[in-house]
Amino acid sequence: MVTKSSWQISRAPAKVNLSLKVVGRRADGYHLLDSIVVFSNFGDHLALKPTLSAPTLSIRGPFASNLESSPENNLAFLADRAFVEAFGGTRCDIRLWKRLPTAAGIGGGSADAAAVLRLKAKLAGIPLNDTDLNMVALSLGADVPMCLRGRSARVGGIGETLIEAPIMPALPSVLVNPAVMLPTPSVFKLRSGPFSTSTTLPEAWNDLCEVSEAVNDLGNDLMQAAIHIEPVIKEVLSNLKAMAGLNVASMSGSGATCFGLFDDLKSARQAAHVLKRRWPGWWVAETVLNP
Ligand code: C5P
Repeated sequence: MVTKSSWQISRAPAKVNLSLKVVGRRADGYHLLDSIVVFSNFGDHLALKPTLSAPTLSIRGPFASNLESSPENNLAFLADRAFVEAFGGTRCDIRLWKRLPTAAGIGGGSADAAAVLRLKAKLAGIPLNDTDLNMVALSLGADVPMCLRGRSARVGGIGETLIEAPIMPALPSVLVNPAVMLPTPSVFKLRSGPFSTSTTLPEAWNDLCEVSEAVNDLGNDLMQAAIHIEPVIKEVLSNLKAMAGLNVASMSGSGATCFGLFDDLKSARQAAHVLKRRWPGWWVAETVLNP
C-alpha cells in the first residue's frame, strides 16, 4: 500500500517487441505469442499520492488529448483500483504525464498500469514476481505482466509467460510512429495464414550484429496486417532503413510504431534529427533499448 502522503514518482518505459511470432490462438480468441521484448529508457511518467477521498486522475503531456477523459477507461486508474481490491491499502490520486503515443504497439497504457502496480507493490513489500500481483496485472491486459517485470523477456502464452530473453547489449535506437492510432484487436483480427512455430534461441546475442540478425530472421507476424490497415508503416520502415548507421528496422507489437537499431547513440541521434525535420508530423524518439 502507498503509505507516504507525498507524491511518489513511477516511470512507465515503452515496451518494444524486437520480434513477435503468433504461434496459435486460444478458444477465447486471444493469440499465443513467442516474442522478445525489451524496454526503453523513454516513457510516460506518473505520480501517485494516497487519498481518502474519491481518487482522481489528471493527464498532461503531448499525448494527453489522445486519451478519454473518464478515469474508468484509463489503465493506470484501473490498476490502482485492482491493486487495492486484491491487496488492500489506500486508493491514490494519479498524475499521468503522457509522453508515449497511444494505440502504438509500444505498450503505453500497459506500461502506465504496470508503473502503478510496481510502485504500490514496492511500498507494500510485495515482490514483482508475486503470483497474485501478476494475476492482477494480466487481468488489466495481456501486456501488463511483461511491463511489470520491466526488463527484457521472452514472452509466451498471451503475454503471461515470461522467461529470460537471450542476454544482449544495450541498443541505441530510434522509435518512429507516423501519428496513426492502430487498435490492437483490428491487427490481430486481420492476421492470416498459418501460425509460426517457436524456434530455439541462444543464451546470448553477443553484439548488435547478432541482435540485428535475429530481429531480421524472427520478424513480426503482425506486420503485414498492420501495413494493410496503415500503409504508411512501409514508409516509416523505408525511411529508417535509409538512415546512416542503421543495422535493422522492424515494427513493435501490433504497430504502428517502428524501431531502428543503430551503430551507436550518435548515429541514432542524427537519424532522429533528420527524421524529425523531414516528417514534422511523426513522433520520433531516440532512445536506448535494454539500457
Ligand atoms: O489484453 P488486451 O486488452 O491488451 O488485448 C487487447 C486485444 O488484443 C484483445 O482483446 C485481443 O483482441 C487482442 N490480443 C490477442 N492476443 C494477445 C493480446 C491481445 O488477440 N496475445
